[in-house]
Amino acid sequence: MLFSAALPAVFLLFSTKLWLVAANGRDQQPSQPSNDIDDDIDNFSNNRYTAALTINGKILNVILDTGSTDLWLNPYDGVGSFESTGVVKKLAYGQGDTFVNGTVGLAEMSIAGHTIPRQAFINVTQIAGLDACASGICGLMGLGFDSPTAGIEKVLTDAGLDGPALGKSVLSSIFDQNPDKGRFFAFSLSRLGDAKDTADASLSIAEYDDKYAEVQWMAKRPVFPATAKSWHILSDGATVNGASVPWSANDAGTPSGQLLIGLDTGTTNIIVRPEVRDSIYSAVPGAVLAKNSSLKNTHWSSDHDVWVVPCNTPVSFSAVFGGQPYPMHPLDMTEMRTQKGPDGTTYTYCVGAVTNGGTITSGKTDALYGDSFLRNVYTVFSFGDNTTSPYIQFLSQTNEWESTQDFAHVREQQLAKNPPEISPADLIRIFDGVSVGGGSSSGSSSGSSSPSGSSTGSSPSCTSGITKGVSGNLLDAAVTSSTDSPTTSKYVPIIIGLLAANLLVVLLLAVFGVMGFVRSRRSVGRTRSTTVHYVPTKTNDDSLLRPSFAEERPYSDSA
Ligand SMILES: *[C@@H]1O[C@H](CO)[C@@H](O)[C@H](O)[C@H]1NC(C)=O
Ligand SMILES: *[C@@H]1O[C@H](CO)[C@@H](O)[C@H](O)[C@H]1NC(C)=O
Ligand SMILES: *[C@@H]1O[C@H](CO)[C@@H](O)[C@H](O)[C@H]1NC(C)=O
Ligand SMILES: *[C@@H]1O[C@H](CO)[C@@H](O)[C@H](O)[C@H]1NC(C)=O
Ligand SMILES: *[C@@H]1O[C@H](CO)[C@@H](O)[C@H](O)[C@H]1NC(C)=O
Repeated sequence: MLFSAALPAVFLLFSTKLWLVAANGRDQQPSQPSNDIDDDIDNFSNNRYTAALTINGKILNVILDTGSTDLWLNPYDGVGSFESTGVVKKLAYGQGDTFVNGTVGLAEMSIAGHTIPRQAFINVTQIAGLDACASGICGLMGLGFDSPTAGIEKVLTDAGLDGPALGKSVLSSIFDQNPDKGRFFAFSLSRLGDAKDTADASLSIAEYDDKYAEVQWMAKRPVFPATAKSWHILSDGATVNGASVPWSANDAGTPSGQLLIGLDTGTTNIIVRPEVRDSIYSAVPGAVLAKNSSLKNTHWSSDHDVWVVPCNTPVSFSAVFGGQPYPMHPLDMTEMRTQKGPDGTTYTYCVGAVTNGGTITSGKTDALYGDSFLRNVYTVFSFGDNTTSPYIQFLSQTNEWESTQDFAHVREQQLAKNPPEISPADLIRIFDGVSVGGGSSSGSSSGSSSPSGSSTGSSPSCTSGITKGVSGNLLDAAVTSSTDSPTTSKYVPIIIGLLAANLLVVLLLAVFGVMGFVRSRRSVGRTRSTTVHYVPTKTNDDSLLRPSFAEERPYSDSA
């Protein structure tokens, strides 16, 4: 087993009093803010970014999720006393076999230095298909929009209660208590393992992190459509290695020349339609597509197609918004992993991080830009006010030239620690028994041996094609079932539960083959600091941890 050296401390610098608390897989109880440093972890797959919420004196770690709105709590020993409305609310994921169910309660709770006297939450009495409280994370807090037609607000209204007043989200409660402040929150997500070892991540509510305060002067990019109750905005497209990615909107309602992009902290990577993914990586010298492969993607994908990219080849990708390019760090575009081949040998290789979104990206939404994009910007999510519709602001954090240097350095080090990389074509032949790229594949990993033409699609020796609707695909199933299923909760929160597992987990790029990460914590002072926990999620567990992002109806109740 390969272990990396311990990385320098990772910590959040908060401009507000929100604590993000590390929770790790060993804890069966919620962990509390801690000052210990280099507290090694031995379970990498069950860790999340969380915030500490206090109810009845108990501190609970709750996952933060921009893709949903409601709060649910599920501590082993109950939340203690609260005012129950008796109104049942179930939030379902997957095909309905994964859910939380309980009754809506109202209780005083504190989070991020704010005390909310009567915050609505689901007191979970039934949980299925989810990790309960196992990782020390015993709840989830949505950072999305209130809606009269979904979630706790709706069930309270349906029960004859004042849904809008009683059922509002935690954020709305905080905003309403601070009418003099803006209704926004802002994130930076850091990247571990790059040259700067950007150890700063922050979440601030109704304030900017001082370090990124200039974000307030950046262009306001309105959510689209203006009435949307989700964090979707328009994009001009993207470039790869300087050329435009051929990509047009799927939906006629999207303005011409634009794409509709969802910004989703609960998605670990970027997901797009498969042809867009293929356009991106076929522009990369030496990259080869393995169709329906036994090689694994590092992120959830709705198919088993894997782009194998020479590890030392940087992919220069920029997302374009309002005419302005936002470069992504090349470490966010390909990721290294190791896998034992059918011959018993362990191989090192790198795969494209942009994957097939399946049904999520086959409707109005053209892409979800998750953590891998969001690491490259400081992002303000504003709910707007009387005069302004909700909008997003980005402050770019990635310099194209520097990040390319950084990439070269980091990959060199990673390659030195791992079994030798072999060429993509050789790798695919070994794992899948198919020959790609036609002819000999004995070239070096720097790539020229694999004709790029072979990568754009139908290799004659591989007839499998895109595996749409693979059974067991939770995501597709979820999206389908959210309309078909007559379950009590007819709405699938964009990102919840299972999904939430991925929530704000900052993936250690390219560390998939190097799983020995060390969590570092640091506290600078109780109200300002926080501890955070970066963990490489187990790559192929992603499929189980994906949100059910029902894009067309994030909060609209399909009932
Ligand atoms: C991590 O924890 C989960 C559940 O707590 C367990 O199923 C899994 O085997 C653990 N993984 C490792 C690598 O220890
Ligand atoms: C709240 O949930 C706990 C289980 O977590 C359960 O024991 C308790 O009865 C619930 N309370 C109400 C009022 O539903
Ligand atoms: C959800 O829990 C309530 C009790 O809290 C129960 O009456 C209801 O049947 C449950 N719903 C489902 C779908 O399990
Ligand atoms: C504007 O919003 C504030 C609260 O944010 C509210 O008190 C005020 O009444 C609103 N004004 C109008 C004209 O809607
Ligand atoms: C993909 O490969 C698996 C075996 O690995 C096979 O069972 C499946 O039918 C293939 N799917 C397609 C669409 O060819």
